Amino acid sequence: MDLASVSADLAALRQRALAAVADADDLKELEATETAFVGRKQGALTAVLRGIGALPAEDRPRVGAIANEVREAVEEAIAERRARLAAIALEVRLAAERVDVTLPGRPLRRGSLHPLVETTREIARIFGQFGFVVYESPEVETDSLNFQALNIPADHPARDLWDTLYVDAPTNDGDRLLLRTHTSPGQMRVMRQTRPPIRALLPGRCFRHEAVDASHGFEFFQVEGLMVDEGTTMAHLRGLLDEFAHALFGAGRPTRFRPGYYPFTEPSVAFDIQCVVCDGGGCPACGRSGWMTILGAGMVHPVVLRNGGIDPEVYQGFAFGMGIDRIAMLRYGINDIRYFLENDARFLEQF
Ligand code: PHE
Repeated sequence: MDLASVSADLAALRQRALAAVADADDLKELEATETAFVGRKQGALTAVLRGIGALPAEDRPRVGAIANEVREAVEEAIAERRARLAAIALEVRLAAERVDVTLPGRPLRRGSLHPLVETTREIARIFGQFGFVVYESPEVETDSLNFQALNIPADHPARDLWDTLYVDAPTNDGDRLLLRTHTSPGQMRVMRQTRPPIRALLPGRCFRHEAVDASHGFEFFQVEGLMVDEGTTMAHLRGLLDEFAHALFGAGRPTRFRPGYYPFTEPSVAFDIQCVVCDGGGCPACGRSGWMTILGAGMVHPVVLRNGGIDPEVYQGFAFGMGIDRIAMLRYGINDIRYFLENDARFLEQF
Protein backbone atom coordinates (compact mmCIF):
# COMPACT_ATOMS: atom_id res chain seq x y z
CA MET A 1 0.00 0.00 0.00
CA ASP A 2 1.48 3.32 -1.06
CA LEU A 3 0.36 6.81 -1.97
CA ALA A 4 0.37 6.12 -5.71
CA SER A 5 -1.88 3.03 -5.52
CA VAL A 6 -4.35 4.68 -3.06
CA SER A 7 -4.53 7.73 -5.34
CA ALA A 8 -5.22 5.46 -8.32
CA ASP A 9 -7.96 3.63 -6.33
CA LEU A 10 -9.57 6.92 -5.44
CA ALA A 11 -9.43 8.14 -9.05
CA ALA A 12 -11.03 4.88 -10.25
CA LEU A 13 -13.70 5.10 -7.52
CA ARG A 14 -14.49 8.62 -8.59
CA GLN A 15 -14.90 7.47 -12.23
CA ARG A 16 -17.24 4.62 -11.32
CA ALA A 17 -19.26 6.73 -8.91
CA LEU A 18 -19.79 9.52 -11.46
CA ALA A 19 -20.77 6.99 -14.14
CA ALA A 20 -23.26 5.27 -11.78
CA VAL A 21 -24.77 8.66 -10.83
CA ALA A 22 -25.20 9.59 -14.49
CA ASP A 23 -26.84 6.18 -15.10
CA ALA A 24 -29.37 6.41 -12.24
CA ASP A 25 -32.82 6.51 -13.88
CA ASP A 26 -34.83 7.34 -10.81
CA LEU A 27 -34.52 8.59 -7.24
CA LYS A 28 -34.38 5.08 -5.79
CA GLU A 29 -31.47 4.08 -7.98
CA LEU A 30 -29.71 7.34 -7.17
CA GLU A 31 -30.06 6.74 -3.43
CA ALA A 32 -28.64 3.24 -3.81
CA THR A 33 -25.65 4.68 -5.72
CA GLU A 34 -25.13 7.28 -3.00
CA THR A 35 -25.07 4.63 -0.28
CA ALA A 36 -22.75 2.41 -2.31
CA PHE A 37 -20.08 5.05 -2.94
CA VAL A 38 -20.24 7.78 -0.33
CA GLY A 39 -22.33 6.10 2.41
CA ARG A 40 -20.71 6.77 5.82
CA LYS A 41 -20.67 3.09 6.95
CA GLN A 42 -20.77 0.82 3.89
CA GLY A 43 -19.61 3.19 1.18
CA ALA A 44 -16.62 2.35 -1.07
CA LEU A 45 -14.97 5.65 -0.14
CA THR A 46 -15.13 4.76 3.56
CA ALA A 47 -13.55 1.36 2.75
CA VAL A 48 -10.62 3.05 0.98
CA LEU A 49 -10.11 5.44 3.90
CA ARG A 50 -10.05 2.55 6.34
CA GLY A 51 -6.82 1.38 4.71
CA ILE A 52 -5.18 4.77 5.19
CA GLY A 53 -3.58 3.71 8.47
CA ALA A 54 -1.17 1.52 6.53
CA LEU A 55 0.33 4.59 4.80
CA PRO A 56 3.30 6.53 6.07
CA ALA A 57 2.14 9.36 8.38
CA GLU A 58 3.34 12.11 5.99
CA ASP A 59 1.17 10.77 3.12
CA ARG A 60 -2.05 10.63 5.11
CA PRO A 61 -3.10 14.32 4.84
CA ARG A 62 -2.58 14.17 1.10
CA VAL A 63 -4.81 11.09 0.75
CA GLY A 64 -7.39 12.70 3.07
CA ALA A 65 -7.48 15.77 0.82
CA ILE A 66 -7.95 13.66 -2.32
CA ALA A 67 -10.66 11.60 -0.61
CA ASN A 68 -12.54 14.79 0.43
CA GLU A 69 -12.27 16.11 -3.08
CA VAL A 70 -13.73 12.84 -4.44
CA ARG A 71 -16.59 12.94 -1.87
CA GLU A 72 -17.44 16.52 -2.78
CA ALA A 73 -17.39 15.79 -6.52
CA VAL A 74 -19.61 12.73 -6.13
CA GLU A 75 -22.05 14.48 -3.78
CA GLU A 76 -22.28 17.44 -6.11
CA ALA A 77 -23.02 15.12 -9.05
CA ILE A 78 -25.71 13.39 -6.95
CA ALA A 79 -27.35 16.73 -6.09
CA GLU A 80 -27.37 17.73 -9.74
CA ARG A 81 -28.77 14.38 -10.80
CA ARG A 82 -31.49 14.57 -8.13
CA ALA A 83 -32.62 17.96 -9.43
CA ARG A 84 -32.59 16.69 -13.00
CA LEU A 85 -34.65 13.59 -12.10
CA ALA A 86 -37.20 15.81 -10.31
CA ALA A 87 -37.43 18.02 -13.39
CA ILE A 88 -37.94 14.96 -15.63
CA ALA A 89 -40.67 13.63 -13.31
CA LEU A 90 -42.46 16.98 -13.50
CA GLU A 91 -42.23 17.03 -17.28
CA VAL A 92 -43.68 13.52 -17.46
CA ARG A 93 -46.55 14.51 -15.19
CA LEU A 94 -47.30 17.68 -17.13
CA ALA A 95 -47.30 15.76 -20.39
CA ALA A 96 -49.75 13.25 -18.93
CA GLU A 97 -52.03 15.97 -17.63
CA ARG A 98 -51.88 18.06 -20.74
CA VAL A 99 -55.22 19.26 -22.09
CA ASP A 100 -55.49 20.45 -25.64
CA VAL A 101 -57.64 23.54 -25.29
CA THR A 102 -57.65 24.04 -29.03
CA LEU A 103 -59.83 20.94 -29.59
CA PRO A 104 -63.40 21.84 -30.56
CA GLY A 105 -65.77 21.52 -27.54
CA ARG A 106 -68.75 19.22 -27.23
CA PRO A 107 -71.73 21.04 -28.71
CA LEU A 108 -74.27 22.15 -26.07
CA ARG A 109 -77.88 21.91 -27.15
CA ARG A 110 -79.47 25.27 -26.73
CA GLY A 111 -82.88 25.35 -25.08
CA SER A 112 -85.63 27.89 -25.62
CA LEU A 113 -88.87 28.90 -23.97
CA HIS A 114 -91.79 26.64 -24.75
CA PRO A 115 -94.20 28.50 -27.07
CA LEU A 116 -96.95 28.25 -24.42
CA VAL A 117 -94.67 29.78 -21.79
CA GLU A 118 -93.58 32.51 -24.18
CA THR A 119 -97.19 33.25 -25.14
CA THR A 120 -98.29 33.32 -21.50
CA ARG A 121 -95.53 35.81 -20.72
CA GLU A 122 -96.52 37.98 -23.67
CA ILE A 123 -100.18 37.98 -22.56
CA ALA A 124 -99.13 38.86 -19.00
CA ARG A 125 -96.87 41.62 -20.33
CA ILE A 126 -99.73 43.21 -22.29
CA PHE A 127 -102.26 43.07 -19.43
CA GLY A 128 -99.52 44.10 -17.04
CA GLN A 129 -99.45 47.45 -18.84
CA PHE A 130 -103.04 47.92 -17.64
CA GLY A 131 -102.20 47.11 -14.04
CA PHE A 132 -103.07 43.40 -14.05
CA VAL A 133 -101.06 41.31 -11.62
CA VAL A 134 -100.37 37.58 -12.09
CA TYR A 135 -101.74 35.20 -9.44
CA GLU A 136 -101.38 31.45 -9.11
CA SER A 137 -104.18 29.06 -8.37
CA PRO A 138 -104.11 25.28 -7.86
CA GLU A 139 -104.64 22.72 -10.62
CA VAL A 140 -106.40 20.35 -8.23
CA GLU A 141 -109.53 22.26 -7.22
CA THR A 142 -112.61 21.68 -5.14
CA ASP A 143 -115.98 21.06 -6.71
CA SER A 144 -117.28 24.05 -4.80
CA LEU A 145 -114.79 26.54 -6.28
CA ASN A 146 -114.63 25.07 -9.78
CA PHE A 147 -118.43 24.90 -10.06
CA GLN A 148 -120.72 25.83 -7.18
CA ALA A 149 -119.27 29.22 -6.21
CA LEU A 150 -119.30 30.07 -9.90
CA ASN A 151 -123.07 29.60 -10.00
CA ILE A 152 -122.94 26.07 -11.43
CA PRO A 153 -124.83 23.87 -8.95
CA ALA A 154 -124.56 20.08 -8.93
CA ASP A 155 -126.61 18.56 -11.74
CA HIS A 156 -126.76 21.87 -13.61
CA PRO A 157 -126.72 21.09 -17.34
CA ALA A 158 -123.84 23.60 -17.78
CA ARG A 159 -121.59 21.04 -16.08
CA ASP A 160 -121.71 19.04 -19.29
CA LEU A 161 -119.50 21.73 -20.84
CA TRP A 162 -116.86 21.13 -18.20
CA ASP A 163 -116.84 17.42 -17.55
CA THR A 164 -113.55 16.46 -15.99
CA LEU A 165 -111.39 14.04 -14.04
CA TYR A 166 -112.19 13.59 -10.38
CA VAL A 167 -109.54 13.03 -7.73
CA ASP A 168 -110.23 10.14 -5.42
CA ALA A 169 -108.95 11.69 -2.18
CA PRO A 170 -110.89 12.55 0.98
CA THR A 171 -111.32 16.18 2.09
CA ASN A 172 -112.11 17.58 5.56
CA ASP A 173 -115.48 19.00 4.60
CA GLY A 174 -116.72 16.37 2.16
CA ASP A 175 -116.01 18.64 -0.81
CA ARG A 176 -114.99 16.74 -3.90
CA LEU A 177 -111.58 17.24 -5.50
CA LEU A 178 -111.14 17.47 -9.25
CA LEU A 179 -108.72 18.67 -11.90
CA ARG A 180 -109.91 22.20 -12.62
CA THR A 181 -111.76 22.56 -15.90
CA HIS A 182 -110.97 26.25 -16.27
CA THR A 183 -109.00 28.95 -14.48
CA SER A 184 -112.24 30.61 -13.30
CA PRO A 185 -112.07 29.18 -9.73
CA GLY A 186 -109.04 31.46 -9.40
CA GLN A 187 -111.50 34.39 -9.51
CA MET A 188 -113.00 33.16 -6.27
CA ARG A 189 -109.62 32.71 -4.61
CA VAL A 190 -108.52 36.23 -5.57
CA MET A 191 -111.81 37.81 -4.44
CA ARG A 192 -111.69 36.05 -1.08
CA GLN A 193 -108.11 37.02 -0.53
CA THR A 194 -107.95 40.67 -1.63
CA ARG A 195 -110.21 43.74 -1.65
CA PRO A 196 -111.24 45.79 -4.70
CA PRO A 197 -109.88 47.36 -6.78
CA ILE A 198 -108.83 43.99 -8.23
CA ARG A 199 -106.94 43.47 -11.47
CA ALA A 200 -105.84 39.86 -11.56
CA LEU A 201 -104.45 37.55 -14.20
CA LEU A 202 -104.47 33.79 -13.55
CA PRO A 203 -102.61 31.63 -16.07
CA GLY A 204 -102.40 27.87 -15.72
CA ARG A 205 -103.06 24.31 -16.75
CA CYS A 206 -106.63 22.99 -17.07
CA PHE A 207 -108.16 19.58 -17.76
CA ARG A 208 -111.33 18.26 -19.34
CA HIS A 209 -112.85 14.96 -20.27
CA GLU A 210 -112.36 15.60 -23.95
CA ALA A 211 -112.15 13.63 -27.18
CA VAL A 212 -108.67 14.69 -28.28
CA ASP A 213 -108.24 16.05 -31.80
CA ALA A 214 -106.30 18.79 -33.62
CA SER A 215 -108.09 21.52 -31.66
CA HIS A 216 -109.02 19.80 -28.36
CA GLY A 217 -106.71 18.54 -25.64
CA PHE A 218 -107.70 16.91 -22.34
CA GLU A 219 -104.92 19.04 -20.86
CA PHE A 220 -104.55 22.65 -21.97
CA PHE A 221 -103.77 26.14 -20.73
CA GLN A 222 -105.96 29.10 -19.94
CA VAL A 223 -105.48 32.56 -18.60
CA GLU A 224 -108.22 34.18 -16.56
CA GLY A 225 -108.63 37.90 -16.17
CA LEU A 226 -110.63 39.54 -13.38
CA MET A 227 -111.29 43.18 -12.71
CA VAL A 228 -113.48 44.36 -9.83
CA ASP A 229 -113.99 47.99 -8.92
CA GLU A 230 -116.66 50.65 -8.45
CA GLY A 231 -118.28 51.63 -11.72
CA THR A 232 -116.71 48.89 -13.87
CA THR A 233 -118.67 48.46 -17.08
CA MET A 234 -118.84 46.37 -20.22
CA ALA A 235 -117.24 49.30 -22.08
CA HIS A 236 -114.09 48.88 -19.97
CA LEU A 237 -114.06 45.19 -20.85
CA ARG A 238 -114.47 45.92 -24.54
CA GLY A 239 -111.80 48.60 -24.55
CA LEU A 240 -109.31 46.43 -22.68
CA LEU A 241 -109.86 43.41 -24.95
CA ASP A 242 -109.47 45.62 -28.05
CA GLU A 243 -106.16 46.91 -26.73
CA PHE A 244 -105.09 43.35 -26.04
CA ALA A 245 -106.09 42.05 -29.49
CA HIS A 246 -104.33 44.93 -31.21
CA ALA A 247 -101.15 44.47 -29.17
CA LEU A 248 -101.04 40.77 -30.00
CA PHE A 249 -102.42 40.59 -33.56
CA GLY A 250 -101.75 44.06 -35.00
CA ALA A 251 -103.26 47.51 -34.56
CA GLY A 252 -105.76 47.31 -37.41
CA ARG A 253 -107.26 43.93 -36.50
CA PRO A 254 -111.11 44.25 -36.31
CA THR A 255 -112.81 42.73 -33.24
CA ARG A 256 -116.38 42.05 -32.18
CA PHE A 257 -118.53 40.91 -29.26
CA ARG A 258 -121.10 38.17 -29.78
CA PRO A 259 -123.68 37.20 -27.19
CA GLY A 260 -122.62 34.15 -25.21
CA TYR A 261 -123.55 32.21 -22.13
CA TYR A 262 -121.67 31.40 -18.95
CA PRO A 263 -123.37 30.81 -15.59
CA PHE A 264 -120.82 33.03 -13.81
CA THR A 265 -121.10 36.13 -16.00
CA GLU A 266 -124.16 38.20 -16.94
CA PRO A 267 -124.23 39.33 -19.63
CA SER A 268 -121.77 36.96 -21.29
CA VAL A 269 -119.98 37.39 -24.59
CA ALA A 270 -117.64 35.70 -26.98
CA PHE A 271 -114.81 37.94 -28.16
CA ASP A 272 -113.84 37.49 -31.80
CA ILE A 273 -111.02 38.82 -33.92
CA GLN A 274 -111.11 38.96 -37.69
CA CYS A 275 -109.60 35.72 -39.03
CA VAL A 276 -105.81 36.02 -39.03
CA VAL A 277 -105.53 33.52 -41.88
CA CYS A 278 -107.90 35.03 -44.50
CA ASP A 279 -108.38 38.54 -43.05
CA GLY A 280 -112.15 38.14 -43.10
CA GLY A 281 -112.59 36.64 -46.54
CA GLY A 282 -113.68 33.25 -45.20
CA CYS A 283 -111.48 30.14 -45.10
CA PRO A 284 -111.39 26.67 -43.52
CA ALA A 285 -109.52 28.04 -40.46
CA CYS A 286 -112.47 30.28 -39.49
CA GLY A 287 -115.26 28.01 -40.68
CA ARG A 288 -115.75 30.46 -43.58
CA SER A 289 -117.15 33.04 -41.19
CA GLY A 290 -114.21 35.45 -41.39
CA TRP A 291 -114.03 35.56 -37.56
CA MET A 292 -112.25 33.62 -34.85
CA THR A 293 -113.33 33.44 -31.22
CA ILE A 294 -110.35 33.93 -28.92
CA LEU A 295 -112.01 34.14 -25.50
CA GLY A 296 -115.16 34.11 -23.40
CA ALA A 297 -116.00 37.01 -21.12
CA GLY A 298 -118.71 38.93 -19.34
CA MET A 299 -119.70 40.98 -16.33
CA VAL A 300 -119.16 39.00 -13.13
CA HIS A 301 -122.51 37.62 -11.98
CA PRO A 302 -123.77 39.28 -8.75
CA VAL A 303 -124.07 35.84 -7.14
CA VAL A 304 -120.40 35.19 -7.90
CA LEU A 305 -119.34 38.56 -6.44
CA ARG A 306 -121.31 37.75 -3.29
CA ASN A 307 -119.71 34.29 -3.09
CA GLY A 308 -116.38 36.10 -3.26
CA GLY A 309 -117.36 38.30 -0.30
CA ILE A 310 -117.91 41.41 -2.44
CA ASP A 311 -121.05 43.55 -2.32
CA PRO A 312 -122.51 43.72 -5.86
CA GLU A 313 -124.45 46.88 -4.90
CA VAL A 314 -121.12 48.68 -4.51
CA TYR A 315 -118.77 46.88 -6.92
CA GLN A 316 -119.00 45.59 -10.43
CA GLY A 317 -116.53 43.46 -12.30
CA PHE A 318 -115.73 41.75 -15.51
CA ALA A 319 -113.92 38.50 -16.19
CA PHE A 320 -112.54 36.80 -19.23
CA GLY A 321 -110.94 33.45 -19.95
CA MET A 322 -108.89 32.49 -22.97
CA GLY A 323 -107.15 29.38 -24.20
CA ILE A 324 -103.42 30.01 -24.33
CA ASP A 325 -102.90 27.06 -26.69
CA ARG A 326 -105.29 28.63 -29.18
CA ILE A 327 -103.62 32.03 -28.96
CA ALA A 328 -100.19 30.42 -29.48
CA MET A 329 -101.53 28.45 -32.48
CA LEU A 330 -102.79 31.67 -34.07
CA ARG A 331 -99.55 33.55 -33.39
CA TYR A 332 -97.29 30.89 -34.83
CA GLY A 333 -99.54 29.22 -37.40
CA ILE A 334 -99.56 25.88 -35.52
CA ASN A 335 -102.37 23.68 -36.80
CA ASP A 336 -102.51 20.94 -34.17
CA ILE A 337 -102.85 21.49 -30.42
CA ARG A 338 -101.26 18.11 -29.69
CA TYR A 339 -97.79 19.33 -30.68
CA PHE A 340 -97.53 21.42 -27.52
CA LEU A 341 -97.34 18.52 -25.09
CA GLU A 342 -95.73 15.84 -27.24
CA ASN A 343 -92.24 16.99 -26.27
CA ASP A 344 -90.90 16.51 -29.78
CA ALA A 345 -87.60 18.38 -30.14
CA ARG A 346 -88.22 18.94 -33.84
CA PHE A 347 -91.27 21.02 -32.88
CA LEU A 348 -89.80 22.73 -29.82
CA GLU A 349 -86.56 23.73 -31.57
CA GLN A 350 -88.52 26.05 -33.83
CA PHE A 351 -89.25 28.53 -31.03
N1 PHE B 1 -114.16 29.75 -17.87
C1 PHE B 1 -114.73 29.91 -19.18
C2 PHE B 1 -114.34 28.69 -20.02
O1 PHE B 1 -113.51 27.95 -19.63
C3 PHE B 1 -114.25 31.17 -19.86
C4 PHE B 1 -114.72 32.41 -19.17
C5 PHE B 1 -113.96 32.96 -18.17
C6 PHE B 1 -115.90 33.01 -19.52
C7 PHE B 1 -114.39 34.13 -17.53
C8 PHE B 1 -116.34 34.15 -18.90
C9 PHE B 1 -115.55 34.70 -17.91
O2 PHE B 1 -114.86 28.47 -21.06
